[in-house]
Amino acid sequence: MRLEMDNLWMPFTSNRDFKADPRMISHAKGVYLYTPDGRQIIDASSGLFCCAAGHSRDEIATAVYRQLNELAYSTPFQLGHEHSFELARRLTELTPEGMDRVFFVNSGSEAIDSSIKIALAYHYARGEAQRQRLISRERAYHGVNIGGTALSGMVKNRQAFGLTMPGIAHLRHTWLPENRFERGQPQQGADLADDLQRMVDNYGAETIAACFVEPIAGSTGCLVPPVGYLEKLREICDNNGILLVFDEVICGFGRTGEPFGSQSFNVTPDLMTLAKALTNAAQPMGAIVVGRHVYDTIVNAAPEKAIELFHGYTYSGHPAVCAAGLATLDIYRNENLFERGRQLSNYFQDSIFALQDYDVVTDVRGFGMIAGLDVTQDGFPGNAGMTIQKRLFHSGLHVKATGDALIVAPPLVSTEEHIDEICEKFAGVFKNY
Ligand SMILES: Cc1ncc(COP(=O)(O)O)c(C=O)c1O
Repeated sequence: MRLEMDNLWMPFTSNRDFKADPRMISHAKGVYLYTPDGRQIIDASSGLFCCAAGHSRDEIATAVYRQLNELAYSTPFQLGHEHSFELARRLTELTPEGMDRVFFVNSGSEAIDSSIKIALAYHYARGEAQRQRLISRERAYHGVNIGGTALSGMVKNRQAFGLTMPGIAHLRHTWLPENRFERGQPQQGADLADDLQRMVDNYGAETIAACFVEPIAGSTGCLVPPVGYLEKLREICDNNGILLVFDEVICGFGRTGEPFGSQSFNVTPDLMTLAKALTNAAQPMGAIVVGRHVYDTIVNAAPEKAIELFHGYTYSGHPAVCAAGLATLDIYRNENLFERGRQLSNYFQDSIFALQDYDVVTDVRGFGMIAGLDVTQDGFPGNAGMTIQKRLFHSGLHVKATGDALIVAPPLVSTEEHIDEICEKFAGVFKNY
């Protein structure tokens, strides 16, 4: 019987094209997805960069099942349950020093919009409520809620949605032609951080609340920060009372070889947004990790016994989601997965960079266990990326494509043999494209 597909409006999908030629997944285990007719597809992008510990982990399923039987829900407003406190504590064992207050949300998009509100509330609490401008960056992806859309620097993600929020300015992106095929942090481009100084000079520091960047811009195709770039942003923020927000939704949980990009690049922000691998994507969850100075400022400004931040979601710190988060952190620790990812990263980068010899590949970038491959544009932007993505799927490989960039970020449980399989499949399609 043919599945009725008309009723579902699929997200970020070419609905008409997909429904004419569906690519369905019925189950997944480890680094493999399986189609209903039993074909095995290697997952080169950990789903959407989120299943770091591999697919369908029993430990997480068991923890969620147990939790749903014990306490499926209680309100997070004015009541608590043990697992949300424990998950916050466990998370801050991994975060940089001083980044030790955690607010739970349900996705990366909510983490970004919540971090905008926390940044504004921080300045309000300090008596600087006029600091309302937000700085972001071209080619940024910060989710799809209104704040994140406004911060976004990818044209298709903003084009149809009008003016979104006022008061947002974008730094130039760091996708430089002179850095093509450069592995790791590019040598050139730190001076692009001076754009932030230009915004301070143009708008006045006292009007700017926060600067948002992904340490590695992931969804746009893996733009690794040039040497010295993030340090410079930190310095300009410090000199001008601006909060620095790192969107670690992709970079977090071992993707860069350390728990967070912040540690890999040795720059500590004031706020960090997390999601995805926080629960290995087995349950929807995001978080904002808040520097203690930011938390203390907001909390201490409120009258004794008063609610300090008028913000939160019905499902903030949901019991079953926290159970998934704790089970995930156990897997990362017990299997030493961040270290395992770091050890595999050289082999992974060597193998991905070897694909640069195919004519269709116009750039390769990479750091740790993430890499981006650009392919030659064909017709409208994104056409080649989507065509290659489909051919790869039919040859047994899943990869996330954004426009004409393919973003490779295999699960951290992958082996060298899995990396070989991924690269052989890429080679097979590139050769015949
Ligand atoms: C850097 C970054 N921020 C935010 C988001 C949004 O996360 P979500 O899709 O969970 O809302 C993403 C998703 O890919 C992301 O890559």
